[in-house]
Amino acid sequence: MNLMSRVTRLGCALAFCCLALVLWGVPGTRALNNGLAMTPTMGWLHWERFMCNVNCQEEPDSCISEKLFLQMAELMVSDGWKDAGYQYLCIDDCWMAPQRDSKGRLQADSNRFPNGIRHLADFVHSKGLKLGIYADAGNKTCAGYPGSYGYYDIDAKTFADWGVDLLKFDGCYCDSVKHLADGYKQMSLALNRTGRSIVYSCEWPLYAWPFVKPNYTEIRQYCNHWRNSADIYDSWQSVRSILDWTSSNQESVVPAAGPGGWNDPDMLVIGNFGLSQDQQVTQMALWAIMAAPLFMSNDLRHISPEAKGLLQNKDVIAINQDPLGKQGYRLRKSDNFEVWERPLSNLAWAVAVVNLQDIGGPRSYTIPIASLGKGLACNPACLITQLLPVKTKLGFYEWTKSLKTQINPTGTVLLRLESASKIASKSSL
Ligand code: GLA
Repeated sequence: MNLMSRVTRLGCALAFCCLALVLWGVPGTRALNNGLAMTPTMGWLHWERFMCNVNCQEEPDSCISEKLFLQMAELMVSDGWKDAGYQYLCIDDCWMAPQRDSKGRLQADSNRFPNGIRHLADFVHSKGLKLGIYADAGNKTCAGYPGSYGYYDIDAKTFADWGVDLLKFDGCYCDSVKHLADGYKQMSLALNRTGRSIVYSCEWPLYAWPFVKPNYTEIRQYCNHWRNSADIYDSWQSVRSILDWTSSNQESVVPAAGPGGWNDPDMLVIGNFGLSQDQQVTQMALWAIMAAPLFMSNDLRHISPEAKGLLQNKDVIAINQDPLGKQGYRLRKSDNFEVWERPLSNLAWAVAVVNLQDIGGPRSYTIPIASLGKGLACNPACLITQLLPVKTKLGFYEWTKSLKTQINPTGTVLLRLESASKIASKSSL
């Protein structure tokens, strides 16, 4: 080999190493390698609304049973949820029989799921939907059903055999942080070994936080999404505390999100009892800014047109599902207002202004345009559309201008900013 070709080879090897190092450092490159959740997962999950109601005698319409999921599957298709992007119909805790079968496999409660999970999965698939299920890394699930500890491979195989498409894996009853971490990793590998595409939804950091600062680079290598903060309740206080948690920890969590792996602030409770219309707007807008998995937990048989319109809002879902896959963050907090922003593909940005004051009436907030999108969103100008609470075209804004918004107490104004130069280059094509 002559000297020149050796030098060229060395150069190529060095360039390859540098590229590998650069990619290693870029968030979003080292995700769980299952090709799933390239945008945040969307679906329905029973927990917040139906909890562990196993009393089918007294409450046949709201107990955790095959019937509930068959009805939700029908509605997800007939009422436009599937078309809006909500694809995963997910079972949470309390579906299991109290004992494993004679071969050590988990089994569904035979009174409440008389035809078993395989039958439910077949039905869900026949509707063009996907089925999610729940298990736990520890000795028991949070509600006390059989845990997967010591059974990771068997359980992964059982779920794959049944045709399950998503696993929510909880972390109750783990006796150490090591047990917790090992459990989450082993189940991830076990799911991969089944060869079936199964979205892996974790709660690993939530259970790790009281003991150690979670290693998000590692978590991202094993999970498609991960819960960080306490369970959501049907209340404004709960939604607010999740937003506070996320913004207070944004330096740790925001860089971890990207195609294939997302921070999960828990279910959407829109359509239930606890949030006013303005607060529902705030949840929808901020879950879009946070690139959150969108799992509704509500009763699709009884939902107001306002809640349905909000949950199916195409413009807001497009922000949540933006292919750039970068999570937004809180930009500013002052006088009980918060401004959040999220970079989007094609140099666009989403901006949310939240009025956290829960006394008085609507308040106005003025944003200097130059302060948005790291100074780039509207340089030299941008087209601004208000998406929530009502869609309104606000027109072109130059970099030097300000935008005045009016926001109801506990409500949010969600804006989309399109770069004027991008619009000009599109129209000249
Ligand atoms: C934990 C989880 C909840 C739900 C319950 C079920 O609290 O965080 O989302 O799955 O367990 O028991």
